[in-house]
Amino acid sequence: MANLSWLKNPWAQSPWFETVAVAQKRAKKKLPKSVYGALVAGSEAGLTVDDNTTAFRQLGFAPHVAGLSDKREMATRVMGQDISMPVLISPTGVQAVHPDGEVAVARAAAARGTAMGLSSFASKSIEEVAAANDKTFFQMYWVGSRETLVQRMERARAAGAKGLIMTLDWSFSNGRDWGSPAIPEKMDLSAMVKFAPEGILRPKWLLEWAKTGNVPDLTTPNLTPPDGVAPTFFGAYGEWMSTPLPTWEDVAWLREQWGDGPFMLKGVMRVDDAKRAVDAGVTAISVSNHGGNNLDGTPAPIRALPAIAEAVGGDIEVLLDGGIRRGSDVVKAVALGADAVMIGRAYLWGLAANGQAGVENVLDILSGGIGSALMGLGKNSIHELTPDDVFVPDGFRRDLGI
Ligand SMILES: Cc1cc2nc3c(=O)[nH]c(=O)nc-3n(C[C@H](O)[C@H](O)[C@H](O)COP(=O)(O)O)c2cc1C
Repeated sequence: MANLSWLKNPWAQSPWFETVAVAQKRAKKKLPKSVYGALVAGSEAGLTVDDNTTAFRQLGFAPHVAGLSDKREMATRVMGQDISMPVLISPTGVQAVHPDGEVAVARAAAARGTAMGLSSFASKSIEEVAAANDKTFFQMYWVGSRETLVQRMERARAAGAKGLIMTLDWSFSNGRDWGSPAIPEKMDLSAMVKFAPEGILRPKWLLEWAKTGNVPDLTTPNLTPPDGVAPTFFGAYGEWMSTPLPTWEDVAWLREQWGDGPFMLKGVMRVDDAKRAVDAGVTAISVSNHGGNNLDGTPAPIRALPAIAEAVGGDIEVLLDGGIRRGSDVVKAVALGADAVMIGRAYLWGLAANGQAGVENVLDILSGGIGSALMGLGKNSIHELTPDDVFVPDGFRRDLGI
């Protein structure tokens, strides 16, 4: 057959992107407005979501110019798993971004040798995701009775989850000054008619779904009761809102139910809470403000990290999530005491832009950036980074709960 490759559109855009910011632009162009808005998220005035990235910009490096190292060792071990670099996938309740959803994210993370956090509000089941990445952690909120929590946890264990993430920072704040996206309860005919104008403006996204023969179903398969059906996202949210709030005894109890396996408490911002987490027997904490989606006015995690790492870094693993967009952000966090970081929006933009390959692209951008920063700082390894590698301006830190 004749070679028709010359007929290819020479102006067609390469699916590869060079930074996370470019991936975000592509995601914005590709996703329906409501889906994109759900990923931007944030809360109230957006003070916290802005500070999460602004804070990284305020930190500087003090690079060397000669005598640099050829080695760029990034591998580490977190939550009992060997990972290729100190970057893990943070759990997000991804709905409708891409038909392969969290399975594509898990495959990308596995391809790049790192771990996957799966949200209990995710669109794919723990069974499918753990099969795609054997370093999968299941994330739970405090939703439902103790019996229900154990049932969900045991299902995750049986599916092969290697660790449990308990996320506690949520205060049901609602309302955003820039307006919240409209999200339907389920994708029935009336919702499809209502959202058709948004979809028609985003033909690439529509085509991706059309190829699968499915529409986004907006249910939460990891919260399905035994012999029941998967609740809708809002149904699950309602159950969460009506669940009594957990105490530190509840945290210790859940930890005990999980046994000796790795257990992370996500959402810690204060030194006193970090110490209580140590007392509750956790393996790790993530210093996090839920990506700025929770209590607006909470400072960026990178500001709270140094005091927390100084206080409990010798007892447990300290991770950080919130605002990571570049490899240099990862290096700043590790230098200030994090064992590793988790990413949220960065991989969601990659997933939206180019599915599994887009998430791999994001992980490659981060590992490339970690390598450059290590080289510039004259360090052989992420394990050699210290606070001296980072310039921290006066007044940067927020030593909370001391
Ligand atoms: C759209 C969206 C959904 C999220 N859903 C969850 C969730 O279900 N469980 C959870 O623990 N954290 C959730 N998070 C928070 C992320 O795990 C993570 O803390 C945050 O995204 C980190 O900030 P970054 O997006 O700046 O990287 C969500 C974040 C976003 C943006």
